[in-house]
Amino acid sequence: MKKIIYTLLLLVPLGSFAAGDKVHLQSADINLSDFKAIQKGAKHYVTYCLGCHSAKHMRYKRIAIDLEIDEDTVLAEIAPEGARIYDQMHTAMNEHDSKKWFGVMPPDLSLIARSRGADWLYSYLKGFYVDKSKPFGVNNTVFKDVGMPNMLWKLQGIQSPVIRNVKGEEVISYLELKESGSMSRSQFDTMVTELVNFLVYVGEPVQLERKRMGKYVLFYFLLFGIVAYLLKKEYWKDIH
Ligand code: HEC
Repeated sequence: MKKIIYTLLLLVPLGSFAAGDKVHLQSADINLSDFKAIQKGAKHYVTYCLGCHSAKHMRYKRIAIDLEIDEDTVLAEIAPEGARIYDQMHTAMNEHDSKKWFGVMPPDLSLIARSRGADWLYSYLKGFYVDKSKPFGVNNTVFKDVGMPNMLWKLQGIQSPVIRNVKGEEVISYLELKESGSMSRSQFDTMVTELVNFLVYVGEPVQLERKRMGKYVLFYFLLFGIVAYLLKKEYWKDIH
């Protein structure tokens, strides 16, 4: 038993080192105060991701409250047709079809930003490259042999890997844009940042609530300070 535990303990740091060593993540410029960016991210999510991935922890109503936009705007500009304001962000994909097409059910992405982190998501969405040997014709720099098609290729264009030889092992040096998409590189980066911003918000919507509460708390302190000051003046008036 002891032996098994020691072996497991040995494996843990080695495993994480190996993973961290190979994959170089790009950093995502996340800003949860930028409601406009999160709103655009929500729109991208519904357009490009909701077809397969639900985000069940989020309701359209909550988006309206947190991002301070009215419900009609959320229904008209973000939610898919036919969705109602109290609905969760459900996907139309059913398990049967998805198992047939992808072999797996695309996971719910409510907590993906917490489990993978913003930088990983950013690198993942930018990390698809041509690999003819794969069922969808693509592979991914941070998710090897991924079973998801690159949903954003029309915007980004098509990337192919530039291979480098490191100690006899072939590794991807960088990705080269072989065919350009409808967006420029910086437009695409902005779009992916907005999308990841939305996913980070979905992972912990309470962060926005805290910010909002913060404003009230400050206001309360200010008000309380004034009242206390006036009271003090009133009490000491007769003593002086
Ligand atoms: C056509 C269906 C489809 C669409 C649309 C789609 N995905 Fe996926 N996605 C999948 C499948 C299937 C997997 C599982 C891949 C696997 O496990 O190999 C996946 C996996 C993922 C993962 C990895 C989850 C993990 O295991 O950590 C992330 C992140 C992700 N998708 C994000 C997105 C985002 C963001 C969008 C929108 C831009 C999107 N997906 C659009 C099918 C889809």
